[in-house]
Amino acid sequence: MKVIVTKNYEEMSAVAANMVAELIAAKPNCVLGLATGSTPEGMYANLVQGCKEGKIDFSAVRSVNLDEYFPIKPENDQSYRYFMNKNLFDHVNIDKANTYVPNGQAEDPQAEGARYEKIIDDLGGADLQILGIGQNGHIGFNEPGEILTAGTHLEDLTEDTIKVNSRFFASVDEVPKQAFSMGIGSIFKARSIVIMASGANKHNAIAKMLEGNVTTFCPATLLNLHPNVTLICDEAAYNG
Ligand code: PGA
Repeated sequence: MKVIVTKNYEEMSAVAANMVAELIAAKPNCVLGLATGSTPEGMYANLVQGCKEGKIDFSAVRSVNLDEYFPIKPENDQSYRYFMNKNLFDHVNIDKANTYVPNGQAEDPQAEGARYEKIIDDLGGADLQILGIGQNGHIGFNEPGEILTAGTHLEDLTEDTIKVNSRFFASVDEVPKQAFSMGIGSIFKARSIVIMASGANKHNAIAKMLEGNVTTFCPATLLNLHPNVTLICDEAAYNG
């Protein structure tokens, strides 16, 4: 795993945005695997700025998001579809028909997992997958446990994750208890992966991943098995 340690959140965001911009310049119709959460917001702001300045052209870019709460309506301001529109899609020249997020209103969750996995396959997998990391080491919503799932699936969120994510909701009771998530196998279909982390609260998970061992009890450690992963994290996440 390649490691880039930045001074702070702003530098982490700029470095990640540059990597995305370089990929789009080299391959205008690339497939971006995108993530939500606090971590990538600054990266998206940089990409919006780059597009407004005419330096990045999203017109042929395709995107596939990592996860989505279930159940949730796309117009709910906590849905990940809403997040992506607000932070990126509404401000760049991407064709929204080419942007994919799991359907948080799916009637048949199993069928939705299979449908979404086929979308990833039909796109040929992501050229670059952006990931955050949970304090508990989750990637996407692949939560620590004895078993990890390969494909896109409905995941029960852990109490930890529900508590951490409750900061975005009026109360902890409003946090959905389940989410669709790409599985570890879906994530591994990406030819390259960038995992981002900022802040001392991510240090334990980052340190565990950088030990180089693999355990399903810290899903991010599975990334040690992928041939092209770059960690971009700030000093606080790296040093604790
Ligand atoms: P965060 O979430 O970016 O909001 O910290 C990351 C994650 O839980 O994967």
